[in-house]
Amino acid sequence: MKIFETSITWFVILLLIVSSACQDTSTQKGPPQGVPGELVDPHSSAEKGGAVVTHLELDISLDFTQKIISGSATLTIDNPQSKPYLYLDTKDLTVTGVVLLSTSQKSTTATYDWLPEDSILGRPLVISLASDTRAVSIQYKTSPTAEALQWLEPGLTAGKLHPFLLTQSQAINARTWIPIQDSPGIRFTYAAKVKVPPALMALMSAENPTEKSPEGTYTFKMKQPIPAYLLALAVGDLAFKEVGPRTGVYADPSVLNAAVYEFGEMEEMMTIAEGLYGPYAWERYDVVVLPPSFPFGGMENPRLTFATPTVIAGDRSLVSLIAHELAHSWSGNFVTNATWDDFWVNEGFTVYFENRIMEALKGREYSEMLALISYQDLVEEVKDLDKKDTHLKLGLHGRHPDDGMTSIAYDKGYYFLRLIEETVGREVFDAFLKAYFTENAFKVMDTERFLERLDRELLKDRPALKAKLDIDLWVYGPGIPANCPKAETPLYSRVEAEFAAWQGGKAPASLSTEGWNSHQWLYFLRSLGDETTPEQMAALDEAFHFTQSGNSEIQCEWYTHAVRHGYEAAYPALESFLTSVGRRKFLMPLYKEMAKTDEGKKMAISIYKQARSTYHPISYMSIDKVLGWEE
Ligand code: BES
Ligand code: ZN
Repeated sequence: MKIFETSITWFVILLLIVSSACQDTSTQKGPPQGVPGELVDPHSSAEKGGAVVTHLELDISLDFTQKIISGSATLTIDNPQSKPYLYLDTKDLTVTGVVLLSTSQKSTTATYDWLPEDSILGRPLVISLASDTRAVSIQYKTSPTAEALQWLEPGLTAGKLHPFLLTQSQAINARTWIPIQDSPGIRFTYAAKVKVPPALMALMSAENPTEKSPEGTYTFKMKQPIPAYLLALAVGDLAFKEVGPRTGVYADPSVLNAAVYEFGEMEEMMTIAEGLYGPYAWERYDVVVLPPSFPFGGMENPRLTFATPTVIAGDRSLVSLIAHELAHSWSGNFVTNATWDDFWVNEGFTVYFENRIMEALKGREYSEMLALISYQDLVEEVKDLDKKDTHLKLGLHGRHPDDGMTSIAYDKGYYFLRLIEETVGREVFDAFLKAYFTENAFKVMDTERFLERLDRELLKDRPALKAKLDIDLWVYGPGIPANCPKAETPLYSRVEAEFAAWQGGKAPASLSTEGWNSHQWLYFLRSLGDETTPEQMAALDEAFHFTQSGNSEIQCEWYTHAVRHGYEAAYPALESFLTSVGRRKFLMPLYKEMAKTDEGKKMAISIYKQARSTYHPISYMSIDKVLGWEE
């Protein structure tokens, strides 16, 4: 009996312990049932009015053999409405544990779950929050096929001795290397500890080292808040050299001097940019020159632009790319498109700003060449696009945001802003833009808010000007409106005259081409019509050596014509270009041109077989579609 009584007492005590433990965990709300309410943007699972990330603390190490990044991401959150769940974007990440950190420094194991996988957006991670959760810490690792990451074998770098890793987070790839709220509308500061093999230098979109760490341990701080698409990491055999007091270049030691010469105007560009639209917000501006398989020309990672080595032409002829990425320090990084539907708010403004920097640096005749090239790009792209994709304001819901990465955001955006400038006058427009940047610093901007501001500040009570602009047609209508400004430059008139003379029968060698810059040559090549013969191509090549050009823009244009007009002598050079360069802008037109005929397609596939593994996922995913490639 006594024993019985005792066991009952024990049973009751046990019950009490268990139930109190249950109460403890019940503050974690159990496995999440919830799906997010209204979203911040269609390409992120972050909830409107929900818990948001305000700071990221990253602690990761890199395994080059397995092609995996692993470690932890600790996210400080702000949860003003005490929402029960935190929604994070992830794609191809393996999560091995989540811990909640409370305001009183307690840490508890968190309950988490996943929303269904989406082929474009990935798999949102849902973490149950407690009322006192200050931060969540996620232990995770990436997949070797993470879309943001490119792991390069030593042979694909300039020095050929060390491997390289680079990230490309824009537009929605940050989630493939960090669990994060991957929306341009959500900003946070960050700090990082990154462990890499000794002999490699790690750089981020943050305060950076200028020397290698003997143990391969690096720490970073980014104290200005940035959206996830600007998170960036590059790791490789890199060295640093100053260009000016606030500017410098990182590159493989074997290309460092060439890069420093090529980008020698960086400091001056900064002074010009600040003179136009106000102080630079990010303290330093450096550029890292990446291996040639980097899929873009440039990427405006704050404090540290990522650049393709294909802009190193030896004569500074392609440095408008640096002006472009620098300009993003204001348009994009400082004032950020709210969603990818407003992409032109980043890129159109940046092309406009780039053009203004180049005008101040090299003169109007020069910047007008760039504007005309931009117009040609626009005309070509409009021919290929669906009408609705030619509106400045895009509708990318349900699609990949990269679909919006066309000439529309860039060049139609540019010409729209130029039209406003020409309509209201440059002085007025400059004052407007300066205030626009200053007042919206570290904030998001969407198309509608920009238009409201434009109306309020410049167009209200000026119906005649407003009618002249025809804003709705530009923003919500298709194609290139009839009031599109015309760029003009005598530098191209000369090219037109010589081109006409050549067509009239004048021998290439006797054309007056002395002193032409690479943009003039590009313009010349772009004038070649469909009827051009292989013999004409050969004669031009003999006189001007396009096949052997060291200028990547000319190479791309020339090789495209070589394929189109069957000029076979250029094919070996074309092949070596395609197997050494991974910049999507160059790969796409070349593969597309080859894919037009059966024979061309055969050649394309044979080159692609060798080259595909050296391309970034962003590049090969696009080319796969062109060639109907299946792995
Ligand atoms: N931010 C873009 C690159 C980008 C856009 C990457 C969208 C991923 C998604 C960058 O500023 C850019 O526009 N680069 C251009 C060069 C520029 C001079 C037009 C490029 O890479 O070609
Ligand atoms: Zn850009």
